[in-house]
Amino acid sequence: MIKYDEKTKIFKLDTLTTSYVIGLADEKYVGHAYYGKKLASTDLAYLLRIDEPPFVPSKNLREKVSFLDTYPMEYSFGGTGDFRESCITVTTADGQQGLDLTYVSHRIYNGKEPLEGLPATWGENSETLEITLEDVPTGIRVLLSYSVFEDNDALTRSVKVINGGNDAVYIDRVLSACLDMDNEEFEVLSLHGSWARERHMERVPLGYGSYVTESVRGESSHQDQPFLALLSKNCTQTVGEVYAMHFVYSGNFLAKAQRNQHDTVRMVMGIHPESFRWKLEAGESFQAPEVVCVYSDEGLGKMSRTFHDLYRNHLIRSKYKNQTRPVLINSWEAAYFDFDTDELLALAKKAAELGIEMLVMDDGWFGKRNSDEGSLGDWTVNEEKLKGGLKHLVDEVNALGMKFGIWFEPEMISPDSDLYRAHPGWALQLKNRSGSQCRAQYVLDLSRPEVRDYVYECVASVLRSANIEYVKWDMNRQLTDIGSAYLPADRQGELSHRHTLAVYELQERLTRDFPDLLLENCSGGGARFDPGMLYYSPQIWSSDDADAIERLAIQEGTQLLYPLSTMGAHVSDCPNHTVGRVTPFETRGIVALAGTFGYELDPRKISEEDQAKIPGQIADYKKYTSLIREGDYYRIASYQENHRFDCYEVVSKDKKEALICFVQVLGEPNFRSRKLKLQGLDADAEYVVDGKTYLGETLMSAGLILQRAWGDFKAQIIEIHEK
Ligand code: GLA
Repeated sequence: MIKYDEKTKIFKLDTLTTSYVIGLADEKYVGHAYYGKKLASTDLAYLLRIDEPPFVPSKNLREKVSFLDTYPMEYSFGGTGDFRESCITVTTADGQQGLDLTYVSHRIYNGKEPLEGLPATWGENSETLEITLEDVPTGIRVLLSYSVFEDNDALTRSVKVINGGNDAVYIDRVLSACLDMDNEEFEVLSLHGSWARERHMERVPLGYGSYVTESVRGESSHQDQPFLALLSKNCTQTVGEVYAMHFVYSGNFLAKAQRNQHDTVRMVMGIHPESFRWKLEAGESFQAPEVVCVYSDEGLGKMSRTFHDLYRNHLIRSKYKNQTRPVLINSWEAAYFDFDTDELLALAKKAAELGIEMLVMDDGWFGKRNSDEGSLGDWTVNEEKLKGGLKHLVDEVNALGMKFGIWFEPEMISPDSDLYRAHPGWALQLKNRSGSQCRAQYVLDLSRPEVRDYVYECVASVLRSANIEYVKWDMNRQLTDIGSAYLPADRQGELSHRHTLAVYELQERLTRDFPDLLLENCSGGGARFDPGMLYYSPQIWSSDDADAIERLAIQEGTQLLYPLSTMGAHVSDCPNHTVGRVTPFETRGIVALAGTFGYELDPRKISEEDQAKIPGQIADYKKYTSLIREGDYYRIASYQENHRFDCYEVVSKDKKEALICFVQVLGEPNFRSRKLKLQGLDADAEYVVDGKTYLGETLMSAGLILQRAWGDFKAQIIEIHEK
């Protein structure tokens, strides 16, 4: 619900339990009055504190610098008095940059308009406020959009810049959200990592100066996640305040929390300004991506559930989002590049016997690709390996009762490829410099329309040639050599963003032309696990590290923001190919239950005892998948925090059933059973656990006793039903 109070000049945006309040100082500067627990009153203009005198001079003379330097801005701009982090920098034809953005008008409408060329939240039961600001001397206008969804506790924001002047201008920085608050001894939470170690949580106190998390790698990255949250000091899973931002974007991003002189805090998020410069001709506009804002006064757990519900209901579009995904077996860790038709069919036959439902042929099926040293871009089937062609293989796999999926890395070009030999100018490149190779490959210049068309046609023609029901879209190196032989000199700064827009355009075309396709995004594991990709694919490969213990931290960090149904999670071989660890087969199965479920191994090469466990694991997946996909997630214990054990719980929306997944990492001598305090149950309802009846309140306040496990890496699942 969005209200505007004409008398107080207050905009109030209410969600189920929160209010976001915007005010106007002197009907001119759009200020941020409040974000937090839902308020009834709109008499809130006093929160802008515009009549307070600065320290010097002791009278409030309304001097612009002292005003702008302290005023809580809804969308900050620099150069005219606000020295804190600026959201926008525009260089005009005269080479100057200062802005003074003031209120022009607003409109409130039902629904939410799509963001052109960009992924964004959607849904009919929404309402949007659009505020137009203008810098009068240059005619630059900024449209601030805010949307709320009636059934959700989140708010989404985006920004559009319009060049209303007569000359071209350059946008050097355009962030998408700004949140000014008083500091309350906040701590900052962010997610960090590396290849095979994605999304580990970090929490530190916010000191004076700035805390930054960012990517300049051309993708959201393994290293940082486009997410930032400010937490009250006492914040846990169940209590305390959280102010979170998450960016619906898959390219370079900046997220910053700045603690300023008067102990105020400014949190901003948007496209990273580094090497970004967008030319805007007179009359043109630029749409910046969307930021999701979540406030919780019930700790991190409520924040996670709010993100999960928003993404399930208003971001993911795939028809598969509410469906049980097929249990897949992926050829990568089973065979790497070493396979042919016979080998794949033998793998598929064994997998089918065990109940696995889809064979995914990973890297190595095209061009002359027998290692990672060439052929990217040559998307023609290698018939020396796939004798009889792709259709023959797919038909044979289908005849076994299995679906078929395939791997692509469409954004890339190997120097050793026919494509590169024919079109060396199609790779991103800096003039007169040799390119920077990574995994023996370059990145395609997707700003070229003919390259986008070539890439699309390559993927589409393979999909048209056989009954292919799943695609894994990979991206195995980050962007360097950000130069285009196609774009003019004054548009080179647009290249990284244009790459991201091109990926969106290609995936939009793909999912539109192949509406039944199940698309899984991937980037060297989980380097493009971001809300932007979820708009196109209902699942994303979480990490190349499928070791059950490494996955505890990776999956916990992912679950902090993303619905469990979006996490690609597989049972892999042992010793694990990334860390060499040996874990029980049961544990690997239970850890993979948290996601889309599949196998990353050759079932013919594992022990008969483990093979025999596969049908039971698949039965468990089928039994629990709708609960895991649709239920509410609660983090009960964090291995990242306690270094001993890990536990999460999923509770059905009607609170009638729940599932607990528990992993004891190392066996410990001489310790007792553990007490797990459950969450999210109906306090007054009776629940049955292992044949014994408990009151919901008892399980939540006093806890469930879990007997100790014998040995390392032991996992168990516990079912809970209402009596
Ligand atoms: C990436 C993916 C893997 C696999 C390889 C193939 O690393 O994350 O799952 O597809 O590429 O080269």
